[in-house]
Amino acid sequence: MNINRRQLLIGLSAAALPQPILAAESSVILRPTRVGLSVNGRMIEMLGFNNSVPGPEIRLPQNDTLSARLENTLEEGTMIHWHGIRLPNTMDGVNVLTQDAVIPGGSFDYRFAVPDAGTFWYHSHYLSLDQVSRGMFGPLIVEERNPPDVDQDITIQLLDILTDAEGNFDRAFHPAHYTTEGRLGDVMTAFSSSSQTRVGERLRLRLINPSVDRVFKIALQGLSGVVVALDGMPLAEPQLLSELVLAPGQRVDVIGDVEADVHVLEQSASKPLLLTKISPSGSRDERQTAFAPLPPNRLPQPGRITQSVDLVMQGGAGGKPHGGFGSWALNDVSGLPRQPIISAGRGETVLIRLRNDTAFPHGIHLHGHHFWETDESQAPTVLRDTTLVEAGESREILCVLDNPGAWLIHCHMLSHQEDGMATWLLVA
Ligand code: C2O
Ligand code: CU
Repeated sequence: MNINRRQLLIGLSAAALPQPILAAESSVILRPTRVGLSVNGRMIEMLGFNNSVPGPEIRLPQNDTLSARLENTLEEGTMIHWHGIRLPNTMDGVNVLTQDAVIPGGSFDYRFAVPDAGTFWYHSHYLSLDQVSRGMFGPLIVEERNPPDVDQDITIQLLDILTDAEGNFDRAFHPAHYTTEGRLGDVMTAFSSSSQTRVGERLRLRLINPSVDRVFKIALQGLSGVVVALDGMPLAEPQLLSELVLAPGQRVDVIGDVEADVHVLEQSASKPLLLTKISPSGSRDERQTAFAPLPPNRLPQPGRITQSVDLVMQGGAGGKPHGGFGSWALNDVSGLPRQPIISAGRGETVLIRLRNDTAFPHGIHLHGHHFWETDESQAPTVLRDTTLVEAGESREILCVLDNPGAWLIHCHMLSHQEDGMATWLLVA
């Protein structure tokens, strides 16, 4: 197994600058650009959008239409995927299935309505292990028509960056990344859209994990509150705040009242690492109102199950042999099979039995839909668009396939996706 020469993880000392915010009333233009990111006093060359890494935060009200023009200023192809948005298939930004790569100098107009309020994000979906790890991602926030009563609505993006011996961004090819837990960075940070608060303020924190392979285990200190949404979808019953686990691609929304310095800590290592903080100066009257659930989005409810399908994760270091050509496979195939793993009529409820036959966790993401995780009796529990399946674990998910088109389903550990862990389904 690959032992990184620098297991020591470094927290980012400099508070990241607040990201520019684009209100999407008019249309938005996104241009990939090289951007320097200052880490511990050293510039790391990244690739962001519009001279910002992460890319600008896009905000618009629920049910509005986002018009976003991608202008490809790179010397290679690219495209954008709008992670978690239930949009028309032609706008999904997936090579082969929904569009061709936007060539250098070319552009593509994405235009779609945003049916669900919540925390989403956008990212390159082309050469994505490279382009996303270099910074081609940003938040996409869809606001409730009646937002909850909070003092600040803050986006926090968790990121790890792999640097080389000189401290520059590491673009070298490391074969072991493709067979183990992936391209884990040695530098970890969080980009918070605000760094200041007051004691007694009620904050909404929108955590996003755009890292290519790292699962973050986050503790929030100095804040007492509840988890109100997962992957953009409100929980019917907010859950008391405890450790937050975010696989690549996942989001968690928290609402809480500030009690002290708000610390965002990564705690998978032996010693917790401070990623960012929001510091109080002064105070305000504490609120007396309880934390309420967010208004639900309108999603189709599961009906009678018409198909049950196994989806088996295979491969990787120490894994059993499988039928695919890559390090990883789903149902014995690496990469997209000629036939979809599921063909469904519009509106069918399909049960997918996820089974992880490997020695590593995988975060499985379905495009164009959210799905229900289920309990032992197959009853739906929470809605997600990305679910983390630990090594050796199985999980059943219920998908109401109501969005017509060819949809990708893949591991959001992008090293795994790149080396085979991706497939697709078809909704007619
Ligand atoms: Cu967030 Cu297929 O991607
Ligand atoms: Cu994986």
